[in-house]
Amino acid sequence: MVKNSELYENKTILAPMVRVGTLPMRLLAVKYGADLVYCEEIIDFKILKSKRVENDALGTTDFVLSDGTIIFRTHPQEKDKLIFQIGTADAKRALKAAQRIEDLVSGVDVNMGCPKEFSIKGGMGAALLSQPEKIKEILTTLVNGLSVPVTCKIRILPELEDTLKLVKLIESTGVSALGVHGRTKEERPRHSNRNNIIQTIAELLSIPVIANGGSKEVIKVYEDIAVFKQATGCSSAMIARAAEWNPTIFRAEGKLPLLDVVKEYVKVAIEWDNNWVNTKYCVLQMMHDNMLDYPEGELTQAAMSMEDISEIWGLKDYYLQVRQKLSKISEGAESQGDRVSIETNE
Ligand code: FNR
Repeated sequence: MVKNSELYENKTILAPMVRVGTLPMRLLAVKYGADLVYCEEIIDFKILKSKRVENDALGTTDFVLSDGTIIFRTHPQEKDKLIFQIGTADAKRALKAAQRIEDLVSGVDVNMGCPKEFSIKGGMGAALLSQPEKIKEILTTLVNGLSVPVTCKIRILPELEDTLKLVKLIESTGVSALGVHGRTKEERPRHSNRNNIIQTIAELLSIPVIANGGSKEVIKVYEDIAVFKQATGCSSAMIARAAEWNPTIFRAEGKLPLLDVVKEYVKVAIEWDNNWVNTKYCVLQMMHDNMLDYPEGELTQAAMSMEDISEIWGLKDYYLQVRQKLSKISEGAESQGDRVSIETNE
């Protein structure tokens, strides 16, 4: 029986985006109206190598590598909207990794569309599109082994017939929905998104199909999301770049001015102790087309710490207050011997 397909019906979704889809961006997207938010793709190996840490100061659960890098941070407030995207080339390893995060999320999605060399070389992402047996094995293993719904996100194949064969096979594994980016793995963002092929897939399948690929050509303002859903015949759409540039794209009342949104993003990043490299990256992505219009963009390019970024965005006092508050909570908890509880992955 297919698990909780309704979760993916009539939804507007923050798409998975490496480096962009970390906790602050996901929480902002939810605040402005996203129904579901995907985390950035996280490779199964990394989850298996990390330690699961309860962060009492923030109330988050963190997955931390031995060098201190946090590869995944989540808070219970996003659980009912959070989909974890995994990168994998191996069914057993994917299941083991997904079981470590299963209680923290509402669904698990397998990336089958990433065309980057790193993914393809590892047999992950779009490399899976030409391996139907492996797709079947990975998806059935996850569907049977997890309590939460499983989905995957694909790109289309060059031939319609092959694409339709592939999506039927995917549906037969018991997945709860399918995300489709309407470009082939060879195509770049400048190529048109094949909305008509997404529509054909949506007509063919019984499970919800989530349309993706509309940021550049269609989705400029909130109302365009409905236009994209109509053009693809899907009740759900997943938005990447339009949300990366301005996460208030999900706001029914219209987008907020860029500088206000970036400032709010920095505030949320401070509150969740997001690392400065990631915060800087996301700020620069939001400023992408406007670097020359605002001095804040250029200044952010030179920032070397969260304190620098906070100062540029007029939030230095706020940053210092939050730091003080967080370290007080940590010290208090430490003196009671329970600052962080660590569950090892053995
Ligand atoms: C992506 N994309 C992507 N896809 C995926 O399945 N997992 C991922 O981790 C990422 N990472 C990622 C990072 C960044 C910065 C971008 C811009 C894109 C692809 C993305 O989810 C989406 O499929 C495409 O961007 C097309 O959708 P839009 O941008 O037209 O809405």
